Amino acid sequence: MTRTRSIVVIGRHGQLARELAALTWPRDCLPHFLGRGEIDLFSPTLAHNQLSALRPLAIVNTAAYTAVDAAETEPELAHLLNAELPLRLGNLALRLDVPLLHVSSDYVFDGSAGAPYPESTVPRALSHYGRTKLAGDIALLDSPADVVVVRSAWLFGWQGRNFMKTILARAAASPILRVVNDQVGSPTPAAVLAATLRDLALDLVAGKPLPRLLHFAGSPATNWHDFAAAILQAFHGAGHLAGLPQLQAIASCEYPALARRPAMSALDSGLAARLGYPTPDWRAALAALARNRHRPAISARMVA
Ligand SMILES: NC(=O)c1ccc[n+]([C@@H]2O[C@H](COP(=O)([O-])OP(=O)(O)OC[C@H]3O[C@@H](n4cnc5c(N)ncnc54)[C@H](OP(=O)(O)O)[C@@H]3O)[C@@H](O)[C@H]2O)c1
Repeated sequence: MTRTRSIVVIGRHGQLARELAALTWPRDCLPHFLGRGEIDLFSPTLAHNQLSALRPLAIVNTAAYTAVDAAETEPELAHLLNAELPLRLGNLALRLDVPLLHVSSDYVFDGSAGAPYPESTVPRALSHYGRTKLAGDIALLDSPADVVVVRSAWLFGWQGRNFMKTILARAAASPILRVVNDQVGSPTPAAVLAATLRDLALDLVAGKPLPRLLHFAGSPATNWHDFAAAILQAFHGAGHLAGLPQLQAIASCEYPALARRPAMSALDSGLAARLGYPTPDWRAALAALARNRHRPAISARMVA
């Protein structure tokens, strides 16, 4: 069958871009993955010509500056990628008359809420990363382009760098792990977020009306220490870890970091669920990953 529907994904080698590439797409749909080597979004004419040649029906932006601590010392680059790039993509999407799906973060919130954040909460970021992501959100939400900003959180899976792989690598290398227990969030299986972005893109192409801002993250909320414990149990239970390292809960102040993180950044994904994009249970996804026979070998090299 001829593939006719073209979807452009901005980003190629990142965690989420790889998960999107690993998905099954409808037979008549061709996703094009454009990393920084394939497209220069800061050359508007060139980027417009490149994109229009692909005749996309929708654009999905996964590109971002995601190093939360490094953003404190590279504020210009973080701003360029997280605030300026979405604005430029919004302009391009408008010129091409196609919808744009953009991925954002729970770190746009300050963590002072007592319950998971719905889309209606006014954000206030604590870190430069969070502020630049928020600037990108605002630029797109204010733009006349057809956009959906999807905020997610705490991605994990086999692709790219993430907390699950870090914990498994450290467990293979050290008998004691110290993990903070005073930051609560929403672990999200990156593969499920990718599948939901694919479905959202296809639904947009089909003309389904969607809100311009959606929260989509895993449930239930947990803290990094308990998430680490669940990771270790899942992989130990599936026979992939010889022993269980000792896991110590520590406070954030005992693990100094350049960027401030919110104490509670869990996202309320109820609106997405009501629209037909169900909230993933991260515990089930973790168990499925632990059972996955095609996993890479667990070693300290996984996060090298
Ligand atoms: N990871 C998380 O836990 C998490 C949590 C909440 C929200 N998010 C959001 O989810 C999205 C995807 O995150 P991720 O984990 O997939 O990030 P990632 O693994 O760090 O990938 C970053 C992507 O950005 C692109 N990029 C980085 N620097 C670039 C540059 N100088 N020029 C052009 N492109 C550049 C990369 O392009 P190449 O393909 O060319 O390398 C890559 O595809 C981001 O918007 C992030 O803010 C992530």
